[in-house]
Amino acid sequence: MLWLAQAFLAIGLARAQSTYPNTIHPNGTIPGELNEAYSPPYYPSPWMDSSATGWAEAYEKAQAFVRQLTLLEKVNLTTGVGWEGEACVGNVGSIPRLGFQALCMQDSPLGVRFADYVSAFPAGGTIAASWDRGEFYRRGYEMGMEQRGKGIDVQLGPVVGPLGRNPKGGRNWEGFSPDPVLSGIAVAETVKGIQDAGVIACTKHYILNEQEHFRSPGTFEDFGFVDAISSNVDDKTLHELYLWPFADAVRAGTGSIMCSYNKANNSQVCQNSYLQNYILKGELGFQGFIMSDWDAQHSGVASTLAGLDMTMPGDTDFDSGYSFWGPNLTLSIINGTVPEWRLDDAATRIMAAYYFVGRDEAQIPTNFNSWSKDTYGYQHAFAKVGYGVINQHVDVRADHYQSIRVAAAKSTVLLKNSGVLPLKGTEKFTAVFGNDAGEGEHGPNGCADRGCDNGTLAMGWGSGTADFPYLITPLEAVKNEVSSNGGMLQSVTDNYAWSQIIALAKQASVAVVFVNADSGEGYITVDGNMGDRNNLTLWQGGEELVRNVSGYCNNTIVVIHSVGPVLVDSFYDSDNITAILWAGLPGQESGNAIADVLYGRVNPGGKLPFTIGTEVSEYGPDLIYEPTNGNNSPQDAFEEGVFIDYRAFDQKNITPVYEFGFGLSYTTFSYSDLKVVKVPAGNYTPTTGLTTAAPSLGNASTDPANYQWPSNLTYVDKYIYPYLNSTDLKEASNDRDYGVEHEYPEGATDGSPQPRIAAGGAPGGNPQLWDVLFTVTATVSNNGTLPGDEVAQLYISLGGPDDPVVALRNFDRLSIQPGQSATFTADITRRDLSNWDTASQNWVITDYSKTVHVGTSSRKLPLSATLEI
Ligand code: NOJ
Repeated sequence: MLWLAQAFLAIGLARAQSTYPNTIHPNGTIPGELNEAYSPPYYPSPWMDSSATGWAEAYEKAQAFVRQLTLLEKVNLTTGVGWEGEACVGNVGSIPRLGFQALCMQDSPLGVRFADYVSAFPAGGTIAASWDRGEFYRRGYEMGMEQRGKGIDVQLGPVVGPLGRNPKGGRNWEGFSPDPVLSGIAVAETVKGIQDAGVIACTKHYILNEQEHFRSPGTFEDFGFVDAISSNVDDKTLHELYLWPFADAVRAGTGSIMCSYNKANNSQVCQNSYLQNYILKGELGFQGFIMSDWDAQHSGVASTLAGLDMTMPGDTDFDSGYSFWGPNLTLSIINGTVPEWRLDDAATRIMAAYYFVGRDEAQIPTNFNSWSKDTYGYQHAFAKVGYGVINQHVDVRADHYQSIRVAAAKSTVLLKNSGVLPLKGTEKFTAVFGNDAGEGEHGPNGCADRGCDNGTLAMGWGSGTADFPYLITPLEAVKNEVSSNGGMLQSVTDNYAWSQIIALAKQASVAVVFVNADSGEGYITVDGNMGDRNNLTLWQGGEELVRNVSGYCNNTIVVIHSVGPVLVDSFYDSDNITAILWAGLPGQESGNAIADVLYGRVNPGGKLPFTIGTEVSEYGPDLIYEPTNGNNSPQDAFEEGVFIDYRAFDQKNITPVYEFGFGLSYTTFSYSDLKVVKVPAGNYTPTTGLTTAAPSLGNASTDPANYQWPSNLTYVDKYIYPYLNSTDLKEASNDRDYGVEHEYPEGATDGSPQPRIAAGGAPGGNPQLWDVLFTVTATVSNNGTLPGDEVAQLYISLGGPDDPVVALRNFDRLSIQPGQSATFTADITRRDLSNWDTASQNWVITDYSKTVHVGTSSRKLPLSATLEI
């Protein structure tokens, strides 16, 4: 099929030739092919489905809104105004005629970035350790309320990509866990929380963005230009691992999904028709809109046809003044390259998400500015235009500090306790050690986007951050505790002041050592770590500090603040180390939360959301720190398949130091009385039939004269507008190759009814995947002397040679009084028992014998039963 097109349209279509039929191939299922994986084309881009569960009303309202729009207004709704063009990290254009304000997109997954009077919540990877659905939801809701109060439409979070393939991945801490089920449950509750607050959640980064190095094309000091890395994954791994939590987010109704910077199977994700059209909008039935990560769009028409709905921040490069969309999108509609229904669909999806979460009732004008904390400044920061009040300093924190403290304490994991904890508060001489105990010399917000590791660590660095309103340090909280009991406390917060450290350690009856390990987003390098961690060791000589203290104090407690697993093998089994706690990245109430646990006001019930091993190689393939396969096509073969984190340890029979799901309590629990009840459910039927035809919501004039710059407009420099520069389309395109013919993927513009996808049928996938096939109960008894929480965990062995030994499928956090028992109840769904079958492109329950296990961690599963399917 030949089309008349601008040259820019062709970028990225190179691999989407019509030589591949318009059907789905299992991608690179042969491991040997992973290095040269390709992503098959899939067109057309699915339009919204009026019958999608839960979306009918939003869809109607959105259609009614979009029907009123002109072509230019639709373009405005989908195209960002450019970096630093408006108050938020991203804004699309406004629709003044209808009084519709420019939609505001703002980081982050743990609060409101770039704003004052906001809260700093525990990071995703920390709240995951609470294994508490209620905490997931509450955190989401409170973050959503803060975003709403600042006048934000879309919160750029939560994160389930990276999932955490390798523990060194710089942004893992923004997400929840390398386990897809824990991540899936956490993301679903977070999405519901955010959206119940009337703000659109943007689940990100879709997909396979598992490292920071080479995530985007760029020039590096050591290597020169390097293209974006391609994460090459097979179809089964995609479905059973990386896509799994995205399906949960879609099922929970996420209004938006951000496509990621990287390539997947050698196609840039934001123009990958297989991943966006087929998998996300087709199979998963996603009804919201796909937004690009910031400058992750690398083509115009190619990305439009491949399902992108909104470009962020709108310009080709930050402040280039050019856009792949904006005027080019206008042009592509009037010259017929892109069918109008595709733009209508993008606009409808954006507005449907808006109505779905009730923004029509929740929206207030944006009252803060990302680019300055000053009260007065420029509305358009880059152009320095529009001087006036830009910050109203609205305090949106309410009483969230209380739940932040509770959540952080509930997410603390007790790894070792010889009986010293909880402390009584009457210890004779308490000594506190570590740079991680105290305040950084420039305060908690002293480094932009938290891009340094000074003082106690309570979040990682990069765009996944918020400014701390204050940060309670462990030192001040422990000092409060001790001083209110009339005790003695001294501290050394310089990790290298060895003589002072040793002198104090000798005096102490109890020593609490705070250590950390940091990571973040790749645009900031901290201590030689370009986002990703270079290793899994503690920072600032943490191991040495622990050894120095524990060498002289036989009652040393170690508290770890870290972005993920750290190596503890050099000290964890020392007799002088009487307790170890992992406190993650707890947010603003860090010190209070750890004091609550240390002094027993909170009995720890958190469980590790990852595995702590002895060396990094145990986790599987390393990150790619130097371009493989040449600078123009770095490749990353995900050849370990679904075997990451505990699944890798189990597969290779490696004993971890602390396994996934592990965590102690000040009391003890036992498990008994497993009961499995089979629930009658019908057979699984693949979805069949056809969609409707693409609805047409407008009939834009093709006369370029209608799209010229208005004479009365005050032009803002580098701002992205939808207007054409000329009535001559070649001139308007500013493209010397305008008019050159290109081959377009088959079916890309076809608006006729399309076959429904067998594994699809509703948001999240085929609804029968959630049929309950078994219910499981077990008794959990608290046989200690203190009330406590236990996270009962349910794992399944799917039984096949390519299946993990066990895979988490469900859990519940139970509060149990001493001497009492509680009943753990969990459903096992069809999805929980299924494998992805590449041949039928659907989920199947294999003939292998399936076993359910219940217990206290991935390796302590005292109860098991075979499932009679
Ligand atoms: C790039 C990051 O990858 C993304 O997570 C963030 O939302 C945007 N920048 C905007 O800051």
